[in-house]
Amino acid sequence: MNICLGIMCSPLPFFSLLLICATGSWAMDVTMPFMEYLDQEQLVCLKWGFDNPAGDITFQLAVNTTGWVGFGLSPNGDMKGSDIVIGGVGSSGSYFSDRYATGNSMPLEDAQQSYTLLSMRENEGQTVMTFKRPIKTCDDKDFQITAQPIKLIFAYGKTDEISYHVSRRGTKEVNLLNYMPKSIPTNSSYLSATVDNIIVPSNTTYYHCKVMQFPKLNTKHHIYQIEPVIEHLDLIHHMLLYHCPPKVTEPYDKPCYIGDIGDSCFGIVASWGVGGGVYELPENVGIPIGGEKSDAFYRLEIHYNNPERKEGIKDSSGLRLHYTAKLRQHDVGIMTTGVLPGSVKYDIPPKANQFHTYGICNTAYFSKVCTSADSMQLNSNQCRLHEFRVDFPGASHCRNERQIDFLGIDENYNFDLQQAVSLGSIKTIKQGDEIVVECTYNTTNRASVTKMGLATTNEMCLAFLFYYPVINITSCVSIPDTKGVIPMDKITEYEMMLKKAPQYQAIINSNVSISLSYLILFFFSCGI
Ligand SMILES: *[C@@H]1O[C@H](CO)[C@@H](O)[C@H](O)[C@H]1NC(C)=O
Ligand SMILES: *[C@@H]1O[C@H](CO)[C@@H](O)[C@H](O)[C@H]1NC(C)=O
Ligand SMILES: *[C@@H]1O[C@H](CO)[C@@H](O)[C@H](O)[C@H]1NC(C)=O
Ligand SMILES: *[C@@H]1O[C@H](CO)[C@@H](O)[C@H](O)[C@H]1NC(C)=O
Ligand SMILES: *[C@@H]1O[C@H](CO)[C@@H](O)[C@H](O)[C@H]1NC(C)=O
Ligand SMILES: *[C@@H]1O[C@H](CO)[C@@H](O)[C@H](O)[C@H]1NC(C)=O
Repeated sequence: MNICLGIMCSPLPFFSLLLICATGSWAMDVTMPFMEYLDQEQLVCLKWGFDNPAGDITFQLAVNTTGWVGFGLSPNGDMKGSDIVIGGVGSSGSYFSDRYATGNSMPLEDAQQSYTLLSMRENEGQTVMTFKRPIKTCDDKDFQITAQPIKLIFAYGKTDEISYHVSRRGTKEVNLLNYMPKSIPTNSSYLSATVDNIIVPSNTTYYHCKVMQFPKLNTKHHIYQIEPVIEHLDLIHHMLLYHCPPKVTEPYDKPCYIGDIGDSCFGIVASWGVGGGVYELPENVGIPIGGEKSDAFYRLEIHYNNPERKEGIKDSSGLRLHYTAKLRQHDVGIMTTGVLPGSVKYDIPPKANQFHTYGICNTAYFSKVCTSADSMQLNSNQCRLHEFRVDFPGASHCRNERQIDFLGIDENYNFDLQQAVSLGSIKTIKQGDEIVVECTYNTTNRASVTKMGLATTNEMCLAFLFYYPVINITSCVSIPDTKGVIPMDKITEYEMMLKKAPQYQAIINSNVSISLSYLILFFFSCGI
């Protein structure tokens, strides 16, 4: 179990992402942060979590029955062909087995038992079965779990004699590895961060920026839901809302990154990317807004992607930030990690099938900016990449020069890259740990060099990490020292050189004062 210890910049107690499922004593289980009822009556509750996509997934099935309980992964929602576990607490103790169904008949026991029972309990009329299995198994009788929605099936009996379940069965589709609670916009108060009838130019790529203030909220409130308002789904690639430093004092509405003061608004508040929906924060955290900072400015950035170069389209898209005065337990922070999008030379060569870039955040240097950031916890990872991506950018978690964890989804999983993903469990980053963000570009169709930077034709490699307790750091990014660069035409050598080069790290606090530290890191020692 991950507990956040030590003195924080703002000393907040430990937090868990958990929703209460059956009994209160489970509420702090950070290893199984996700929960869904599989039936309408809320008698069958599934919780789950995983540490990394190459490891195990742990499930806990709680059913309001004292009879047998069954759970399965099905190719189509039916029993036939599904991978099933059945267990319970009977008169002679508990029983549990890994089975597969060949039809609508008693599932057969697998020769290879891929599921392991962790515990089996029965109390107050409820049976609670906790078990795990490797996410990837080699048994062809097991269902392969991927980051796609999977049809989960369940059934249970009134007694421990496993027999036909009659109507006590059901199915529900859930994405186990990339779970997002389905939420619908609530009918609450919201702040509107939208553009107002701007004319989208016929350029293939266009970034529009609106610097604005919100109506004054005299006391602190919490944003708990971010709803996209999209007029032209075919044109909008992503939207980001940034917090501005105090030096930004005037609103404006114009193209981004042409040298305006608002370019310095860089602390992420909210975001949306292609494929995303309404984003709901875990019930214990909120994004703080209002109160002392209620006259702050914010910058909304909309990336329009107009490959057909349509002309004269008017757009009023943006984000709605649903907020509440009923404060949640913790303020959540969003930290940008990855490759510093700046003027430093970091070119991606053309004609590369797979070109990897690396950005490092060494948290040992947080103390220079924020004296007591001892550790923080992450619960979601949102990534942003432009056109040439082939893979999901992985964020690796390293300690003492070794990779100890992977933040995000295995790059072999194929899913929409721009939306937020929930990590399978809450991770604790300790001061001194490193976060390595890796992005892969395919530039086979490019004739010239692509630069890393903010301009519209440039590329970025950034991951946004949601974490708590919040500290005064908005970005922790790096750029390799490109002194003595070798020619770019030797793509592999060039890539390797950038990977092994010492890194300049920029840690940016909420006031946008940049602290540059010169670091020497050897990524291979981290096992990546
Ligand atoms: C299921 O059982 C639990 C534990 O006894 C109880 O708290 C809950 O109210 C029950 N749910 C329903 C829908 O009856
Ligand atoms: C939703 O908003 C409408 C209009 O403000 C209000 O009349 C209604 O009571 C609200 N419904 C809920 C469930 O809050
Ligand atoms: C759009 O494209 C034109 C022609 O290439 C260019 O002059 C103009 O600066 C571009 N506008 C923006 C906002 O990028
Ligand atoms: C890169 O893109 C080219 C052209 O679209 C494609 O043929 C190639 O398979 C891609 N490479 C990878 C590693 O995906
Ligand atoms: C961040 O810095 C401001 C100004 O120095 C301070 O008031 C605030 O408490 C700090 N926040 C945290 C979480 O440390
Ligand atoms: C931000 O800037 C203000 C004024 O320049 C200063 O008083 C405050 O301490 C700074 N906060 C942080 C977190 O650096």
